[in-house]
Amino acid sequence: MTDSGGPLESELPLVVPAGLHHVAMIMDGNGRWASARGLPRAKGHQEGANTVRELTTALAASGLGQLTLYALSVENHKRRPRTEVDFLLSLLRRFLAKERATIMANDIRFKTIGRIDEFPPKLIREIRELEEISADNRGMILCLALNYGGQSEIADAAKAIAAKVKSGEVSPDAIDEDLLGSHLYDPDMPPLDLMIRTAGEMRVSNFLLWQVSYSEIYVTDSFWPDFHIAGVARAFESYAQRRRRFGGLENRVDARTD
Ligand code: FPP
Repeated sequence: MTDSGGPLESELPLVVPAGLHHVAMIMDGNGRWASARGLPRAKGHQEGANTVRELTTALAASGLGQLTLYALSVENHKRRPRTEVDFLLSLLRRFLAKERATIMANDIRFKTIGRIDEFPPKLIREIRELEEISADNRGMILCLALNYGGQSEIADAAKAIAAKVKSGEVSPDAIDEDLLGSHLYDPDMPPLDLMIRTAGEMRVSNFLLWQVSYSEIYVTDSFWPDFHIAGVARAFESYAQRRRRFGGLENRVDARTD
């Protein structure tokens, strides 16, 4: 509470704007957050995991439909030093164990997208287990993108369709946007409404390339560990001002033909 007795901005419940169902976040800036404090990068990732917990719980309570988080890209997995990747995977393992109770208590359905099969077998089992035990939850979907790349996702979908064409199950003429969309990692993923990126870079970095087509984009300079509920509220306010046209015309008087 503030001195005047009112709640702090960070304590206010999040209000989800009309039409906002699926939000994705590029959690960037953990390393810079740590460097700015003279701390090792690992400390930034640890703080980042606390932000994941804080925002997931607040957004689940707000009634948002889906939150998709870019936790590890195929490029991070391939190109970062082994020690950093191992640390990120150990953070993930701890998250899966520690947050299981929070996920169940908040009726959250846990999902993942990405090339999970390239992970160690024990981690794959832990991921699949949390997906299974939370499968009947009806609250917000929390989807972690792990060893994920948008180009890989589209390539993997093309490969799956090619196999079906080869076996005669699918005719080449039947390949269209709907068919490709139904071969992405999660065919049930709802359309993306808003992609939020922290740490200021103006790029999509191979995240949800197919899904971002008509999504709104919001970039904040805050590093991920500094991004809190008040920051999400600002992103939501910005979303509420947008006029989405999906390639058509807005409902304007001058667009009417009658
Ligand atoms: C980008 O920051 C962040 C990542 C590569 C990893 C994201 C991971 C977390 C937020 C913590 C773990 C998450 C879970 C779900 C347990 P960066 O290191 O690229 O930052 P920089 O650009 O400042 O170096």
